[in-house]
Amino acid sequence: MRGLVPAVLVLAAIYGAVSIAGGLWLTDRAAVAQSTTGEAGAGSGEDPSSGKVKGFVPGNTLGNNSDTELWRAIRRGAQGNVSAPGGQGGQLIQSEGDNWRALRNGPVSKYGVWGMLGIIALLAIFFAIRGRIKIDAGRSNQTIQRFNAVERFSHWLMAGSFVILGLTGLNLLYGRYFLPDVVGKSVFAALTSWGKYAHNYLAFAFMAGLVLSFVLWVVHNIPNGTDLRWLLKGGGLFSKGSHPPAEKFNAGQKILFWLVMLGGLSISLSGLALLFPFEIPMFAKTFAVLNVVGFDLPTELSMMQETQLAQLWHSVIALVLMIVIVGHIYIGSVGMEGAFDAMGNGQVDLNWAREHHGLWVEKTLGRAPSDGNH
Ligand code: HEM
Repeated sequence: MRGLVPAVLVLAAIYGAVSIAGGLWLTDRAAVAQSTTGEAGAGSGEDPSSGKVKGFVPGNTLGNNSDTELWRAIRRGAQGNVSAPGGQGGQLIQSEGDNWRALRNGPVSKYGVWGMLGIIALLAIFFAIRGRIKIDAGRSNQTIQRFNAVERFSHWLMAGSFVILGLTGLNLLYGRYFLPDVVGKSVFAALTSWGKYAHNYLAFAFMAGLVLSFVLWVVHNIPNGTDLRWLLKGGGLFSKGSHPPAEKFNAGQKILFWLVMLGGLSISLSGLALLFPFEIPMFAKTFAVLNVVGFDLPTELSMMQETQLAQLWHSVIALVLMIVIVGHIYIGSVGMEGAFDAMGNGQVDLNWAREHHGLWVEKTLGRAPSDGNH
């Protein structure tokens, strides 16, 4: 009997220790089960170690849901709903932005530079071969009024604003690649910031000049048979002493006029769409019209896509027009003797006028150009 009491006590101690250890072990297992199965696992009675439970994946590091399809859709630009105005925030990733950026910083910028260098090289070659186009008969020292003050004002309003818009626009496209190294970062930042203001506000001066020039000159720019003859003779540009007859504007000038008017209109509209973002959609509607004549362009565009297309179109047309205008500036200044006076004081030498715009002189003076005096 004396040995029974310690034996019971030892057994009780062992039982107690085992119970406590077992209790602790069970509590721990339950906690693990709770944390690995989340809400769905809780109380479901399923063994979490068996893997996915009702679509929920064990493990807490990557979240509880397998959301591959959801993220794939977001990467492809799926549109959700947000209460913020405009609903733009409902799209987390706008994939077309990648294409836009690649086009803007890639081909658009690259071919723009090649175009600019190309026209400068062409003009240099032309100048080397042909030299300055002289007044064949020499100056007569008599003048005739070519453009009145309103016409010159209109030209310089359009031209002055275009040149500043062109330079500030080129800075937006190319400035950051080299200007910070040339003028320093802070000067570049100030230049770009002021340049952007100039670009935004002078756009309206350009539009005003464009409209005024259109009104003043459109009647003189309707194509006719004389233009065809002028073009067939290459405008006399490549042969000294031969000047095909021309009216107030020759065919080359008429082409320039229409390029400036249509290109200028296009730059203005796309520029307004960029100035007032997400308010002037125009590409989807234009594409719908183009599809009627056989194109297959998208007609469902988000406002962000509209803006990206407006930016690309704006820079492409502006670059093309700048390239054309470099040629115009050349011929209106160093390239041709006596030409600048037309837009300078408005008076051109009579011999210059007879050689380049014989029919216009005839009409203006009311007699044959050969006896024209002013
Ligand atoms: C900045 C330097 C420029 C110079 C030196 C210049 C010079 C001239 C001259 C001399 C004429 C008259 C040609 C004639 O008597 O037959 C002219 C006309 C004209 N200019 Fe300019 N221009 C310049 C810039 C521009 C710009 C930037 C534009 C348009 C954005 C432009 C558009 C026109 C148009 C449409 C005409 C009438 C058609 C023509 O004569 O070709 N000009 N320019």
